[in-house]
Amino acid sequence: MSSNRHILTAVAWPYANGPRHIGHVSGFGVPSDVFSRFQRMSGNRVLMVSGTDEHGTPIQVLADQKGQSPREVADHYNRLIAEDLVALGLSYDLFTRTSTGNHYEVAQKLFTALYENGYVFTHTTKGAISPSTGRTLPDRYVEGVCPICGYDGARGDQCDHCGNQLDPVDLVAPRSRINGETPEFVDTEHFMLDLPAFADILTRWLKGKEGQWRPNVLKFSMNLVEDLQPRAVTRDLNWGVPIPLEGWSDNPNKRLYVWFDAVIGYLSASIEWARRVGEPDAWRRWWQSEDAESFYFMGKDNIVFHSVIWPAILMGASGEGDRGGEAGELGAFNLPTEVVSSEFLTMEGRKFSSSRRVVIYVRDFLERYSADALRYYIMAAGPETQDTDFTWTEFVRRNNDELVAAWGNLVNRSISMAAKNIGAVPEAGELTEEDLRVLEHSRTAFDTVGQRLERSQFKTALQEAMRTVAEANKYISDQAPWALKKTDPDRMATVLHVALQLVSDANTLLTPFLPESANKVHTMLGGTGTWTGMPRLATGHDRIGGSGEAVDYPVITGDYADDQAYWGTTPILPGTPLSRPQPLFAKLDPSVVDEELARLEGDGE
Ligand code: MF3
Ligand code: ZN
Repeated sequence: MSSNRHILTAVAWPYANGPRHIGHVSGFGVPSDVFSRFQRMSGNRVLMVSGTDEHGTPIQVLADQKGQSPREVADHYNRLIAEDLVALGLSYDLFTRTSTGNHYEVAQKLFTALYENGYVFTHTTKGAISPSTGRTLPDRYVEGVCPICGYDGARGDQCDHCGNQLDPVDLVAPRSRINGETPEFVDTEHFMLDLPAFADILTRWLKGKEGQWRPNVLKFSMNLVEDLQPRAVTRDLNWGVPIPLEGWSDNPNKRLYVWFDAVIGYLSASIEWARRVGEPDAWRRWWQSEDAESFYFMGKDNIVFHSVIWPAILMGASGEGDRGGEAGELGAFNLPTEVVSSEFLTMEGRKFSSSRRVVIYVRDFLERYSADALRYYIMAAGPETQDTDFTWTEFVRRNNDELVAAWGNLVNRSISMAAKNIGAVPEAGELTEEDLRVLEHSRTAFDTVGQRLERSQFKTALQEAMRTVAEANKYISDQAPWALKKTDPDRMATVLHVALQLVSDANTLLTPFLPESANKVHTMLGGTGTWTGMPRLATGHDRIGGSGEAVDYPVITGDYADDQAYWGTTPILPGTPLSRPQPLFAKLDPSVVDEELARLEGDGE
């Protein structure tokens, strides 16, 4: 593959209705960061964007519970989530929020483009109201039996059991989640997205992805396009993006549907990023150039919005679909190159649940363990292609056996032997067949690991990278350089040289997974400057929540263009001074498992 490709990494937007737990970040967060770091190392121009998803009923529900405004809730969790994602080392070019004036404007422009092309139309549907208060009952407040799979506990907008999108009026035996009463359904006018008008082109587009996307994502999406119905893209709600049409925009109780505006966030965040860097049109390179690519990362409950609804919005706003039309004000857009979805993570055999305390939040995790330890676990044992259970036993085992005993020990013993005996990176003498073989294995790993990362096959990529660590450890044990000190110091120097080159190569291979430790190893090997860039909190400035003056708000950004990290072997430089290394990872006492299990309420049903 050529370098200098333009790659958009579009990362699902976490709801600003609570702190994120490790299940969330294993779905959208860490995989997208590993992918982006690898692509940057390969010489490609990555734009990685996301932000907090701040509209809709999830925020409204919590605001009502807390007696706060949705804006207050969103402000609070936007900051908290941004801090957590920085702590995890996720290298967003821009992590922003859906409540900015810029986002409102972009969402409205896309709605307008769809409207002008006839892809959204008004329709009177039945909306739920609470008979006791007369107030609209948002979709998520209505609960009942799923008409598709029969699950009792489906919500008005979606069934968590079968993943289908629903309308509250479809639920069997509907009830209000607030007070259990049976809602009344009354006429309400909404805009519908004409999904059937995209059925043909969506089908053709998805067919073209066979053999490229993960099979589960493709199969699920293909099923959805077989039976497309128009979907409401507005809601009876007073928190969200106003509908940019006369007779609607000043109605305080009609807003764009949260999912409609949230997916547009990928575009609005790219535009906000371009303004920040002082090149207001730069976003177009990732959205409108024919050769640009885009990869969307999320958990599986998000697939439909990314593989069907978002492409339909993009097509309709570009004037493509059965009704034809013209591109709107922002121009025509590319469709996703790939929708990369992971499966679910469970916690010690149970579903994550904040209310039942079956949870570990990112913040709490990182107070006790390192970001790289969590990143490693997620990528090595996470829900890449099937639902997967997080267990503390396995976390401790992987940390101790793989990070500490295999990788940390390789770094430590190689660098400390060279530092103690030579004080610098040694010169190599003549290389033996064994030296050449192990160096060659590590060199070819850039291809094998790279090919897997390119296809988001993170688990096997990491396994291959860790194989080079195992080979290097075996090489050192076989060659026993410590025994050569008296007998053959030249050979000892050569072995240590080879060992340090293997450490450097393995460090490069592991950089996308373990960025913080990669920077440490880079320094231990005598390197200077930044090896791989880390994100930082900065400030954006815009109106928030559709009213008032522009204010500062937290964003994540970073200067990854200065990175030295490069996907390939970097020859180590003989003579570079070395000092005694610090341990790279902390070994965990097995008692950690019981401590953590005690923090979870109960021990199973
Ligand atoms: N907030 C959603 C969730 O947490 C994800 C939104 S992704 C986007 O499930 F596409 F809408 F941006
Ligand atoms: Zn269902």
